[in-house]
Amino acid sequence: MIILKTPAEIAIMAEASKIVAEVLEIIQRAVEPGISTDELDRLAEQEIRARGGIPAFKGYRNYPKTLCASINEQVVHGIPSKRKLKEGDIIGLDLGAIVGGFYGDSAVTVPVGKIQDSTRQLVRVTEEALYFGIEKAVVGNRLTDISHAVQHHAESFGYSVVTEFVGHGVGRQLHEEPQVPNYGKPGQGPRLQSGMVLAIEPMVNIGGSAVRVLNDRWTAVTADGSLSAHFEHTIAIQPSGPARVLSERPGRAN
Ligand code: MF3
Ligand code: CO
Repeated sequence: MIILKTPAEIAIMAEASKIVAEVLEIIQRAVEPGISTDELDRLAEQEIRARGGIPAFKGYRNYPKTLCASINEQVVHGIPSKRKLKEGDIIGLDLGAIVGGFYGDSAVTVPVGKIQDSTRQLVRVTEEALYFGIEKAVVGNRLTDISHAVQHHAESFGYSVVTEFVGHGVGRQLHEEPQVPNYGKPGQGPRLQSGMVLAIEPMVNIGGSAVRVLNDRWTAVTADGSLSAHFEHTIAIQPSGPARVLSERPGRAN
C-alpha cells in the first residue's frame, strides 16, 4: 500500500494517471464500427510513449498488449486482436501507464455507434456506481463503505456485481494492498487514510455475477453471456473532503 507523503510523489502519481486519462480519451474517440481492437491497442501504446510513459500492462504476468479491450459479454482483460467493432457493441477500454516508477490505472466502457437503451443504462449505472464508491473514499470511512456503495447502486437496477475480480491499491506496483471488492457490508476493512491511492473498478453484469476465463487465459466473460460494463479510476484520498480523481478524463466534471 502506498501512502503519498511528499508533493513530488503526489505530482508523479498524478502525472501517470493523467497520461492514462488523456490516452483513454483519444482511444475512446477512435472507437467506431469497423476499427479493430489491435488498432486501438497500437494507438494506445504510441500515445502513452509519446507522453513519456510506459505501458503498464504489457508484460505484466505475460499479458501481451498495452490495452485491455473487452467487448459485450467480455468483463475484463479482453486481448486486442483483429476483431473489428460493430455498431451496437460496447467496449471496455482499460489502460495503465508507468511514469517515474509510479502506476496509473483507469478504464471506461463506451458504445460503438448506436446502442440499445437497455445497454446504455447498464453503462451509465456502472459509471454511477464508480462515482458512488469514490464518494465514500474519505478519511475516517472504512474500505467496504466503498464496496457497499458500488454494490448497492448496481443491484438497485437488478444488475449483479462481479466478485471474482476486485479493485486494488495502486502506487509503486500495479496491484497493491488493499483489495477493493465491489461488494460487501459497509463498515469493514481498513480505515481509509489520507494519501492512500486506490483503483476502484466496478464490473457490472446485466445477468448473473458468475464469470469464466476463456482459453486465452485472460479474457473474462459472463457465464450466462449477458452484457457487462467496467469503469475504473485511480483516486487519492485527501486530508479532508472528497477524494482526488487522478485519472479524471479531460473535459469531465470533478
Ligand atoms: N485494470 C486491470 C487490473 O487492475 C488491468 C490489468 S490487465 C493486466 O487488473 F494485463 F495488466 F493484467
Ligand atoms: Co485496475
